Amino acid sequence: MSEALCQSLPDVEMPSTPIAHGAQPIPTTDGHWLLGSANEFAHAAHLFVAEQGKRNQGLTQFRVLHRRFLATASPDVAHQILVTHREHYERSAHYKRLALVIGNGLAASEGATWRKRRALINPLLRGEHLKQLVPTVCDSVCEVLKEWDGKRASGTPVGLVRETQRLSMGAISRMLLSTDIDQDTAYRLGTAMRGAMQRLREYNTSPFPVPLSCPIHRNRKFNRDRETLDRFIDFHIKSRLANGQPGQPDFLSVLMSAKDPDSGQPLPLQTVMDETKTLFMAGFETTANVMAWALYLLASHPACAARWHEEVDRVLQGRLPQWDDLPRLAYITQIIQETMRLYPPAYNIARQCVREDVINGYRVPKSATILISVYGIHRDPVWGPDPEEFRPERFAQKAAVPRAAFMPFATGKHVCVGNDFSMTEMIATLAIIGQRYRLQRADDEPVVAKAQLGLVPSREIPVHLG
Ligand code: HEM
Repeated sequence: MSEALCQSLPDVEMPSTPIAHGAQPIPTTDGHWLLGSANEFAHAAHLFVAEQGKRNQGLTQFRVLHRRFLATASPDVAHQILVTHREHYERSAHYKRLALVIGNGLAASEGATWRKRRALINPLLRGEHLKQLVPTVCDSVCEVLKEWDGKRASGTPVGLVRETQRLSMGAISRMLLSTDIDQDTAYRLGTAMRGAMQRLREYNTSPFPVPLSCPIHRNRKFNRDRETLDRFIDFHIKSRLANGQPGQPDFLSVLMSAKDPDSGQPLPLQTVMDETKTLFMAGFETTANVMAWALYLLASHPACAARWHEEVDRVLQGRLPQWDDLPRLAYITQIIQETMRLYPPAYNIARQCVREDVINGYRVPKSATILISVYGIHRDPVWGPDPEEFRPERFAQKAAVPRAAFMPFATGKHVCVGNDFSMTEMIATLAIIGQRYRLQRADDEPVVAKAQLGLVPSREIPVHLG
């Protein structure tokens, strides 16, 4: 759901002289005469936008070939765009292109459709509904960890990137569809999801995009990936229609029995399909990435790992976590928050200006696309002198956290609808792992962040299980 999807833009009108109301044009970064900043942007979009976004009181423009972007890494400017001036901005056109993969689901819609969908989905991922998530996550995590026990016994390392994807896929498929996904299916679905999103990213970033309808190899693969996802969800909907709902309600059963507030009729099956696909895709890789980074950081910071183990042993006394335990797993919560501060999956959030705006004395023209660097905001000077350090204790005192400078789930009306869901899942998962294993890195090769659809580790991270 990040900037990666949102990089191909209509040309933006950028005035070069001061304009009405005394507002100034936004200063431009000089790049290569032809390419602009294409290379720097393609090489590390998270670092480039963070750096650009710090200049000129937090607003700069840069060029990728003929396309212009605005960048900000200022908490104050981000707050204006996402909250106080929100009526001037919408998600950019590329979120709408997402509809090719997820249909007209919550993450790809705007306006009245979005409001209706948000009102429908939001309560399903909050409060009482989440209670059920904890035993579901415990079951699914314990299943995966059976294999970890075998690896521990044989001294074989596990790969954190692969394993956290299995953990995340297991939890979300049980929660949404009450289904256990075997390794092959998990791999197939994960590859299809990444493949489809990767093709959209390619299309959005290409200077000469080949229309997605053109039957070249990459587009045929894109269609196959989409069909893989569609068939998977469709299979579950059809078997519910034929065999009835499971005893214990899950997301799909709640959605299939929900009524459209306007018509009082059951939701169209296409809506059920779109929203289920949306949550599956939005919730899988984001959560997996955060867990991979968190375990990597813990394996690299023994003092933090010691506090992690101490907390789970003290709070859980050897049993599996329950809903009421979550608020008492405060250090794990801080670990996750600090991990998302350093490695926010949505590293850049894109918005399109739909009505001219003035921010901090600069004119933001209609149709400009702005990349908000969450990565840069999370390293703003308000975090103190050591923003690159992993220090979960920063989050120990709520009052001391610079709230405006922390937005892993975004802020404003599109704030992540799955934020409580993913926090619940991640806390329960880290609690069980911390209870059972001591992690030790199997090599000391550096691991750096790579900007893809999310901010992913540059390579697999092998760890030994003690
Ligand atoms: C660590 C995990 C997650 C992170 C960091 C994350 C981050 C985000 C961010 C930054 C946005 C806003 C994007 C924008 O406005 O441009 C967003 C939106 C969204 N997220 Fe998440 N997300 C996570 C997990 C989940 C999960 C588990 C689900 C579902 C089960 C989910 C479903 C959604 C949906 C449907 C939207 C669109 C909301 C709307 O437009 O109203 N996310 N997420």
